[in-house]
Amino acid sequence: MDLGAIDCDSARRTRACGRRLGRLLQPGDVVGLEGPLGAGKTLFVAGAAEGLGIEAGYRVASPTFTLINEYPGRLPIVHVDLYRLEDHAEMHEIGVLDYLGGAGVCLVEWFERLAGAQLPDHLRVTIEVQGDHARCLRLSASGPRSSALGRQWLAACAPRRRSGVARP
Ligand SMILES: Nc1ncnc2c1ncn2[C@@H]1O[C@H](COP(=O)(O)OP(=O)(O)OP(=O)(O)O)[C@@H](O)[C@H]1O
Ligand SMILES: [Mg+2]
Repeated sequence: MDLGAIDCDSARRTRACGRRLGRLLQPGDVVGLEGPLGAGKTLFVAGAAEGLGIEAGYRVASPTFTLINEYPGRLPIVHVDLYRLEDHAEMHEIGVLDYLGGAGVCLVEWFERLAGAQLPDHLRVTIEVQGDHARCLRLSASGPRSSALGRQWLAACAPRRRSGVARP
């Protein structure tokens, strides 16, 4: 189900949106990231990890050989990058699906490579490249938890109204 979209006119804004989502994530949440090479998936995950309180000394990076990285935070942060995934046999071999919906939070780059697999409720974020620095994040939910999460996140990312009252 389509929930809406968030426009990000800079890398900084995409990261900040990731951070806002990270603050809302709960155990078992799955976020699938789609979009072409260089769209900003890893940058977004880095923001989300900040929002999840990634421990000092850890830095989210594109894994070169490993498909799965885990970082400690407020919740365990599982960062999966399926760019190099060969096929469904390999997916089962490395046990990607076992991580989804577990005690931690899973953020999966190249989520489309899991097409056809039985997936738990997940929020899909498709990053569309609209210019050198312009990106559009399109949200879609597959179930009740991801719908609630996506809506909360959209509200958190909505442009702030000008007023004299400081907001937390
Ligand atoms: N609005 C924006 N949002 C995200 N990234 C942006 C934006 N504008 C420019 N960029 C740049 O685009 C690049 C995104 O790189 P990143 O590694 O996050 O992409 P990726 O989608 O993970 O790529 P890959 O498919 O290779 O894993 C960064 O260099 C970042 O600075
Ligand atoms: Mg990446």
